[in-house]
Amino acid sequence: MPTQGALFLEKAKGNFILQQRDIPTAPAGEILVKIHATALNPIDWQLQKYAFFLKDYPAILGTDIAGEVEAVGKGVTEFKKGDRMVSLRTTAHHFSSTLSFQNIKLQRLIPDSISFDQAATIPVAFLAAVTGLFGENLKGIGAGLNPNVDWPAPQQTGQTIFVIGGSTSVGQYVIQLAKFLGFTNIIAYASQKHHSYLAELGATGFIDRAAVPLDRLDTAVSGPVEIVFDCVSSVEAQEVAPKIVSPEGAAISVNEDERSEEAKAKDKTFFAVFATSFAAGHEVFGERLWAKVERLLEERVIQPNRLEVVPGGLRGVLPGLKRLENNMVSGYKLVVHPQETE
Ligand SMILES: NC(=O)c1ccc[n+]([C@@H]2O[C@H](COP(=O)([O-])OP(=O)(O)OC[C@H]3O[C@@H](n4cnc5c(N)ncnc54)[C@H](OP(=O)(O)O)[C@@H]3O)[C@@H](O)[C@H]2O)c1
Repeated sequence: MPTQGALFLEKAKGNFILQQRDIPTAPAGEILVKIHATALNPIDWQLQKYAFFLKDYPAILGTDIAGEVEAVGKGVTEFKKGDRMVSLRTTAHHFSSTLSFQNIKLQRLIPDSISFDQAATIPVAFLAAVTGLFGENLKGIGAGLNPNVDWPAPQQTGQTIFVIGGSTSVGQYVIQLAKFLGFTNIIAYASQKHHSYLAELGATGFIDRAAVPLDRLDTAVSGPVEIVFDCVSSVEAQEVAPKIVSPEGAAISVNEDERSEEAKAKDKTFFAVFATSFAAGHEVFGERLWAKVERLLEERVIQPNRLEVVPGGLRGVLPGLKRLENNMVSGYKLVVHPQETE
């Protein structure tokens, strides 16, 4: 049986170790994908450090991949060998060279104009942004601004969205989707060095991160704000978001609600987004959404994040995650090429 290198998290809060594992075949209904690029996300170091979510060890982490269909299982008609595709997070993980997928409805082809590296920057960060903004509000998935993923999107003319952490990977997708949704004012809280790039993505106004501390952000914002999207996820960000948002608006956070009981008691609409198309309640929106991803890319509604390729294949994952954890990645995504592991 041919083998491949894969990066395992050996036990809860343990070390990452590089080991060989069998290359899977594609069973009926599944596809086998040769991974060309996988992106690093904060969740990867958070899973190692805090040991939440994972139950079975050793575990292979990683959530975002882009690659090429290597083989298709019996009965698969949607894909053929050689197709270029991107995948969002699945229950299988991606710090390895090949992968088989169980839910092929949630994989998408990528246009030729998008490289594998660029495509790998999309899945989890984009999904957090689009689920939070578009997802059905009745089911508590999102703000309900485009639950059917209509094209063109229902327009939020005259409305304001405030993005805390505009330069984060998630924030960059929030800004682009806010433009698609027709928000008149798209205000980003971010370091000044990012402002011109975020303006290219669609931001219309800025608050410099160095000029106003996060916990005083509400004092710097005037006028009604219909949506606040916290992409930083600290307690300060979560506590200030509802102070900025209008009474009828919604504050969205990329993290579980960690505010004090006192802050929660004064609540306006506040919810945490979960970047998944698999969890209960998310499937219908997920299928509608992923059917449109290729078009969103082709028509440049969303541009992938800027990126840096970390050298060393899978051996680059750990140093890359350390940089993410230590806030040493500013406005771009780290991408790894598993096939370059020596
Ligand atoms: N709920 C979900 O399912 C889900 C999905 C995806 C991500 N997340 C979470 O979302 C958060 C963002 O993830 P990401 O991948 O987008 O992060 P990222 O791109 O790695 O974030 C780095 C950026 O954060 C900015 N930043 C850090 N602290 C800030 C602050 N106080 N104010 C403004 N900007 C600040 C930095 O700005 P400078 O350039 O100024 O240093 C840097 O550009 C993480 O906590 C992640 O775990 C959650």
